[in-house]
Amino acid sequence: MSVRLRSALFTPATHPERFAKAEEVGADLLIIDLEDAIAPKDKKSARATAFTTLNAVKETPFPCIIRINGLDTSAGLCDVLELLASPVQPEYLLLPKTESAAHLQIVDRLLSEKGLSTKLIGLIESAVGLKAVSDIAHATPRLTALMFGAADLAADLGCGPFAANLTFARVSLVSACATAAIAAIDSPFFDIRDLSGLERAALQAADMGFAGKAAIHPSQIAAINQAFTPTADEIAAARAILIENCRGVGQVNGVMVDEAVARQARRVLARAGQSAEV
Ligand code: GLV
Ligand code: MG
Repeated sequence: MSVRLRSALFTPATHPERFAKAEEVGADLLIIDLEDAIAPKDKKSARATAFTTLNAVKETPFPCIIRINGLDTSAGLCDVLELLASPVQPEYLLLPKTESAAHLQIVDRLLSEKGLSTKLIGLIESAVGLKAVSDIAHATPRLTALMFGAADLAADLGCGPFAANLTFARVSLVSACATAAIAAIDSPFFDIRDLSGLERAALQAADMGFAGKAAIHPSQIAAINQAFTPTADEIAAARAILIENCRGVGQVNGVMVDEAVARQARRVLARAGQSAEV
């Protein structure tokens, strides 16, 4: 079964005691952050803490993502070089401010040189990155997903952080990911007190075609997992559609069943981790 990417919990690399929380709350992925959650003066110690912790743990209960610093910063270059010199082999590297396919290809080549199978996720969070998103989506077979960074993009565009202002960006990112058959992961929801706002945003992201959503607090994981997990009714409807589709063209719950509807039903079952065999 493919890895679930429903929820990815950001945790500052300076707080390794919080890494276990990701498992406790049922996050699919842990993101160990070396970038914006770390003050410039702490970059070096954060990097050392992250690598030492990961090396000591060896196997984590779920895949880990390290968010390095931007490749055009000295902190980012140090992150990559020190990672390559260490025995740590993270499942994924998340590249912030990805603005071209070349950003990913450089890291791809360095990982290949070391014989590492680490996969890549590009974070699209600038006007330049968004313009190049179709190209970026095809950068390398190591690229598993693109993540959307709403906070940085809103700052770059000078717009308010309202979802409606960024719909065009989310749609562009999901479309680019579809052309490359990779997953799209939505930006975190930044108000940790507003759980109903988070629920709405997560359901909307799932409806737009995102495979998952990042989180900035453990309390956000349950709502995100729920939004990206098909309900029992959705699964039953998907099965009924596939059965009807095998018989020819018919109807389920008043909806005409054809191959397009059947394709959607297969996606629902894939998201539920179930086989689409009828
Ligand atoms: C994430 O990094 C964001 O900018 O939203
Ligand atoms: Mg950002």
